[in-house]
Amino acid sequence: MPRGTDVRAAVIAFACALGVGAASADGLAAPDLDGDAQRAAGKELYTRNCAQCHGDKGDGRGVAAPHLLPRPRDFTSGKFKIRTTPSGKLPTDQDLKHVIKVGMPYTSMPGWPQFSEEQLTSLVAYVKSFAPDFAKPENQVEGMTMPTPPPMTAESVERGKASYAELGCARCHGELGRTDGGTAPTLKDDFDHPILPADLSRPWTFRGGARREDIFRAMTTGLNGTPMPAFGEALTEEQRWDITDYIFSLGGSSESPNYATLLTARKTTGDIDLAAADTLFDEAPVAFFPIVGQIMQPGRAFHPASNGLTARAVYNDTDLAIELRWNDMRGNVSGKNAPDIAVPPVEDAGEPAAAKPAAGADDGVWGDAEETSPAGHGAAADPWGDAEAKPGDTGEKDPWAEDGGDAGAAGGGASEFSDAVALQFPVTLPTSIRKPYFLFGDKDHPVHLWFVDLAKKTPSLWLGHGSDKLENLGARDLAVASRFEKGEWRVVFKRRLRSAGALSFEERGFAPIAFSVWDGASRERGNKRGLTTWWSVYFEPAEKPSPAGPMAASALGVLVLELAFVAWARRRKRAEAV
Ligand code: HEC
Ligand code: HEC
Repeated sequence: MPRGTDVRAAVIAFACALGVGAASADGLAAPDLDGDAQRAAGKELYTRNCAQCHGDKGDGRGVAAPHLLPRPRDFTSGKFKIRTTPSGKLPTDQDLKHVIKVGMPYTSMPGWPQFSEEQLTSLVAYVKSFAPDFAKPENQVEGMTMPTPPPMTAESVERGKASYAELGCARCHGELGRTDGGTAPTLKDDFDHPILPADLSRPWTFRGGARREDIFRAMTTGLNGTPMPAFGEALTEEQRWDITDYIFSLGGSSESPNYATLLTARKTTGDIDLAAADTLFDEAPVAFFPIVGQIMQPGRAFHPASNGLTARAVYNDTDLAIELRWNDMRGNVSGKNAPDIAVPPVEDAGEPAAAKPAAGADDGVWGDAEETSPAGHGAAADPWGDAEAKPGDTGEKDPWAEDGGDAGAAGGGASEFSDAVALQFPVTLPTSIRKPYFLFGDKDHPVHLWFVDLAKKTPSLWLGHGSDKLENLGARDLAVASRFEKGEWRVVFKRRLRSAGALSFEERGFAPIAFSVWDGASRERGNKRGLTTWWSVYFEPAEKPSPAGPMAASALGVLVLELAFVAWARRRKRAEAV
């Protein structure tokens, strides 16, 4: 596909993802018709709002489609995920209206809450006209009625946990639902595209919604066209609620990610010792930040593997430790990674598969299947073997290097690029609202990266004047511990509170902080990565002073950050649509 077409597709998809098309839809209230007239009204809405993704013929081959993952649905297949009808059956009109209205979270399928009931009726009639199956009345079945959810209890969660293990959900989803099941890297949908098992520890990413009712329905009817089975017949209603409750508990019993705006470092009187990293953060508050793809500069990550990162921080009079955790299908601990590895421009041209024919099979967007396939597991030599963590100047060893984790067992296999993570701080505290450019700084406002390549496990401090001007300064006074377990990376950085030539942290102080995550299996390296915008870390004093000062400051900070987040959320949509 020539470049020009890519750009046009990108623009159209972007406009659409932002709901630009919706404005035009408002003037098109379709009268309550049926049959051909209904479809004609639907066609008009569809052509304006849906065709760029789903294609004029409804075959999922709209001009933007090659850039999107998951792919826009091929309506001619009659396969729909979000249904109240039994596995393999067509959805009801109500099902289709619902999914059009609310969209599908964490995909490029936008919600269209602005459509009137008549418009939805017309659209659904038109969408159905693409699939011959809908023409036969005998194919139309009734949807289930949602039972009233019983209360969720500690017992129901326990029972659900047992059933989850017995039924083999972990085979795909992983023991704690973090997508690290044995078969996860090889799963494909019915259209031969790679598909990830849902991350059950993050219900807000579910295609069909995050409420307990949504989880119950997904389990009962399955997701047609995907490897996700239906359990409506195999399990009693009570069993399905139990498993629902277990899944809901994996996500912290929350329908929303509860993103943080501030990382609060907790002051401790004890030592900050990496050997005690397991319990060091027990008292520290948890902050969860959204990760988005780097799409501003060449080396773009349109589909970053990670969508969120959890941070905790503690400090005492001399030292600071920050813990980062994120979910990953596999711990890739072979190969290499660094912030300055160049990504060939061809990878930008239209990931995942613009260069391939639309009918193209595997586009390898989840990384080369061979790298991560279970078959590759045995091939991995002891990944901890070469990890004789050469300690930095601190002389501090990674306590997890010997015993820790199942990165090897879970089989990163041999991959060209390893997993990696970085914290970013400005080199000096900004004196105004102006922070360094968040993509590794700029000419006048440099940043420091606390970086670790999780194959090497040794930290390094990088100086950034922009992503094309990065310098590795060596370990300096950084120390690190890292472990991969049950689909989760856990990395702890430690540094002295005050450091010559770098940012020094003070009790009651705020500092900008940002994060980058690289997934080796998805070939993320250099500028191709998941990242966050600037957030703040606050060094909470030991005994609580009058909270008025910091509160006012942080309220202001929160406002600014929320605005930043809105900008990010929009950019994220753009990332998915482009
Ligand atoms: C920016 C691209 C984009 C646009 C525009 C778009 N869709 Fe989608 N749509 C998708 C993607 C991607 C999926 C598949 C998501 C998945 O499989 O998880 C999808 C899936 C669907 C589904 C399947 C739902 C299910 O239960 O499986 C329906 C129905 C649908 N879209 C209708 C529409 C309609 C109607 C419009 C216009 C009003 C529209 N879409 C506009 C990207 C888009
Ligand atoms: C063969 C692999 C496989 C097995 C076994 C499996 N799942 Fe899934 N599951 C998937 C895939 C793949 C998806 C993602 C579908 C998508 O993204 O459209 C999924 C999605 C889900 C979702 C999210 C639904 C949504 O709205 O997006 C839930 C909840 C879920 N599975 C629960 C379970 C439970 C509970 C079990 C065991 C009783 C189970 N799964 C067994 C592959 C599997």
